[in-house]
Amino acid sequence: MVGRNVTGVNEYGHLTIGGVDTVALAAKYGTPLYVMDEDAIRANCRALKTSLETHYAGHGMVLYASKAFCCKRIYQIIAQEGLGADVVSGGELYTAMQAGFPAERIYFHGNNKTADELSMALEAGVGRIVVDNIAELELLSALAKAAGKTANILFRIKPGIDAHTHNFVRTGQIDSKFGFALETGEAMEAVARALSLPGISFVGIHCHIGSQIFDIDPFCHAAEVMLDFAQQVRETNSCTIQELNLGGGFGIRYVEEDDPKALESYMEAVSKVVSARCEKHRLPVPFICIEPGRSIVGDTGITLYTVGSVKTIPGCRTYVSIDGGMTDNPRYALYQSSYEAIIANKAAQQKDFTATIAGRCCESGDLIQEHTPIQTPAVGDILAVLSTGAYNYSMASNYNRVPRPPVIMVHGGTDSIAVRRETYADLVRNDL
Ligand code: LLP
Repeated sequence: MVGRNVTGVNEYGHLTIGGVDTVALAAKYGTPLYVMDEDAIRANCRALKTSLETHYAGHGMVLYASKAFCCKRIYQIIAQEGLGADVVSGGELYTAMQAGFPAERIYFHGNNKTADELSMALEAGVGRIVVDNIAELELLSALAKAAGKTANILFRIKPGIDAHTHNFVRTGQIDSKFGFALETGEAMEAVARALSLPGISFVGIHCHIGSQIFDIDPFCHAAEVMLDFAQQVRETNSCTIQELNLGGGFGIRYVEEDDPKALESYMEAVSKVVSARCEKHRLPVPFICIEPGRSIVGDTGITLYTVGSVKTIPGCRTYVSIDGGMTDNPRYALYQSSYEAIIANKAAQQKDFTATIAGRCCESGDLIQEHTPIQTPAVGDILAVLSTGAYNYSMASNYNRVPRPPVIMVHGGTDSIAVRRETYADLVRNDL
């Protein structure tokens, strides 16, 4: 079973998460229901932190990419574990501040931050603003100057690595909405401009090559490209880059066939490249940040649904309809993402059935998975979809005015509500 580090089967043949019976959770809180194993989230944070400390002699920081799963509780957990956070909007920043997250450990990303958002970040005193383009640099300088503050910035760089092809190639580097290109010279021009502007302190550079990446090579290659640029910056502008943020993107296992590399292999390989490249260029090893989102929360969460109908179309397929769907998990509709499903109240039984799991929206494409093995389904069963901890709650919508499910955290065998279930009243709250 996927997510085997968080899920199990108990003496009643029920699926468990963090040792807690999922059928009992569904009865207690209703469905659809997101459930996350807080202990597993904390274990993932610790493993990343330890690995970074080991490979960079403590000279670095793990930033949780909070777009993967954002609510007050996760910022509290991340803060307690000593991580920083990557935020990408005023809304994420606001949530972090409401949770009491230390502002100096926040990195603010985005390719079109508004003046309001930049002012909010300056006011909050975020640690770094990752500047995406020249217009933003000029705006930030003006805002910082007017507020009597200095913004510590990184530049978002396009290292020109297509990590989604198996044999990565140096293409597509200019055709990305994020960041500054290297080959056109715009990145170097931006550095020169930053050094001349008031209210700006240029600290370093950032890249993010993609998400759900299994290969190690693209990460290594990106680190090389970034350090080569650091060396050019020093030659051209006599300025030493203090910080290198290598982004996130480590893949996780959604289905048995997925083969993510052990965290240690990424960290070891990339850190070797970093030290070799720094030695070659006679650069001091910069402060290293990584920004994993999915690999911190992805396999720590599941979603529980109730089966409402089982519709067999002879010679075609069987639709198993659940009380959620693309509103709580749009990833199959958007990316044809693979998931493992299991009937939680029949978890000890063989998967002897092939089903298409359909959501409840008025939309034929509202599917969670097609032709997937599950136990023989019946109306009233609790269906669990595994590894839904990342980019499910955070991408949920109210399409068809479906209220978002609550998020339950299990911790040490107990459960608590991290986010309450939306009500119909919540849905009309802003309607005038
Ligand atoms: N840093 C930056 C600048 C990013 O843009 C992202 C993700 C991350 C870090 C975290 O990447 P991770 O470690 O989670 O792979 N909605 C898509 C994923 C979009 C990711 C966008 N950026 C999905 O559901 O697969």
